[in-house]
Amino acid sequence: ADQTDFDVLVIGAGPGGYVAAIRAAQLGLKTACAESRETLGGTCLNVGCIPSKALLHASEYYDAAANGAMAAMGIKVTPELDLPAMHGQRKDAVKGLTGGIEFLFKKNKVEWLKGLATFESANSVKVGDRTVTAKNIVIATGSSVTPLPGVEIDEKIVVSSTGALELEQVPEHLVVIGGGVIGLELGSVWRRLGAKVTCVEFLDQILPGFDDDIRKESNKIFKKQGIEFRLGTKVTGVAVSGAKATITVEPAKGGAAETIEASHVLVSIGRRPNTDGLGLDKIGLKLNQRGQIETDHSFKTAVPGVWAIGDVIPGPMLAHKAEDEGIAVAENIAGLTGIVNHDVIPSVVYTMPEIAGVGLTEAQAKEHGDIKVGKFPMLANSRAKTNHEPDGFVKVIADARTDRVLGVWVIASVGGTMIAQAAQAMEFGATSEDIAYTCHAHPTHSEALKEAAMAVTGKPIHI
Ligand code: FAD
Ligand code: NAI
Repeated sequence: ADQTDFDVLVIGAGPGGYVAAIRAAQLGLKTACAESRETLGGTCLNVGCIPSKALLHASEYYDAAANGAMAAMGIKVTPELDLPAMHGQRKDAVKGLTGGIEFLFKKNKVEWLKGLATFESANSVKVGDRTVTAKNIVIATGSSVTPLPGVEIDEKIVVSSTGALELEQVPEHLVVIGGGVIGLELGSVWRRLGAKVTCVEFLDQILPGFDDDIRKESNKIFKKQGIEFRLGTKVTGVAVSGAKATITVEPAKGGAAETIEASHVLVSIGRRPNTDGLGLDKIGLKLNQRGQIETDHSFKTAVPGVWAIGDVIPGPMLAHKAEDEGIAVAENIAGLTGIVNHDVIPSVVYTMPEIAGVGLTEAQAKEHGDIKVGKFPMLANSRAKTNHEPDGFVKVIADARTDRVLGVWVIASVGGTMIAQAAQAMEFGATSEDIAYTCHAHPTHSEALKEAAMAVTGKPIHI
């Protein structure tokens, strides 16, 4: 007879875990979700995607008022910053959405087990002082900030993204360590609100993983906006004395050290999987060299009955990737066929303009064979031009022989929304011609994607 408490126990209620739990319950499985935070939603809803977007959106309005962009449209305003109110609307956004997940758990009869979960065996887990058993256990414990050796994060002066979302004053000088997604998004927030921002990046260009043209162009745009960059530079230490930080840097390739003084330091050099304290040794589950849990295509780990999804497994550390894996793992547990196409996962940096991409970079695509590239500047797009948003371009990369779209890269004010169309086209195996001959509404930024596709094999109209 079946003696287990649950059909499915999910560990972690981030975008991976909460979605897996809801889908499992929708499929008729008796489901629980263990979460040690006081609210559901994981990194994304509590200290990640949502609060960062709340500050990006609000600071963009402030910047538009302060930098003359509104005056250029005939609206004269002198903005006054009410930082506590700005933080207030950030907290409201988080509260509304995390509360929403709690509501969805109740609605779908997912039981929330409050506390830290530790494996006792492959089908039993201790959560707080309660031990529960389940036929299937899904590890969705996510990730946390990678520390920089020798740099102590106090979340006041030397902050991770979590502290950078909650600063009570606009920093005088914020030094950002790492020119990746977090550094550029949160660096932009505080730059817009009046901070001097210096970004120190180890590599010779920002945004690793993005297409080279996009990396170069976005670096130019951020510089124009006033962020200072120290590329090819590594941080070797941060010393805090009183309310001041002294950052020691040296050329990445080695050379003379120098120091930078700052009021605040943001450590954003990446994130690492959460597996400490999970008791994986009890079930004999080993990590790979990067500390991740490996799974097969259906998200099964090496231990029968134990599955894993989201930031804790290989692949991009993105909320939508975790969510799609959450749906797929629940469907696989229920005996259906859950699939995630890891070749078509869009990636977006929510700065102004937004930076987005899906599929292969030009360099990656060239390794696969002959390609054709079409580009179209936002400056020649009627809507972007009318809206005073001339920065950026769209780039479509297609296979030279089959014309199949291999990658799309965008810098545009609404690039994050535009990339969805590219992802869908690629999911359907579209050619650049398919996009070029699809009727796009006028005047929209999306027409730039159509014209970039036209540029792959022929000529666009508007340039
Ligand atoms: P998480 O969201 O990390 O959730 C894991 C949960 O498990 C946590 O709540 C944790 O408390 C819990 N947990 C861990 N161990 C245990 C245990 N033993 N017992 C019980 N509970 C446990 N991604 C995007 O796609 N778009 C964005 O705009 C974006 N912005 C971001 C901004 C910032 C500042 C940060 C830090 C991240 C951002 N991300 C963004 C990344 C995104 O947050 C993650 O990819 C996503 O949250 C991963 O989901 P997950 O479910 O795998 O893990
Ligand atoms: P990241 O991996 O995007 O960028 C880290 C950067 O730091 C890299 O450019 C790297 O070269 C650099 N670096 C590493 N060590 C360094 C050193 N010692 N000195 C100077 N530079 C150094 O990591 P980040 O920005 O911390 O973000 C973590 C994760 O969170 C990302 O993987 C991303 O997927 C996710 N995220 C996603 C967002 C989005 O989708 N909009 C927003 C924020 C985070």
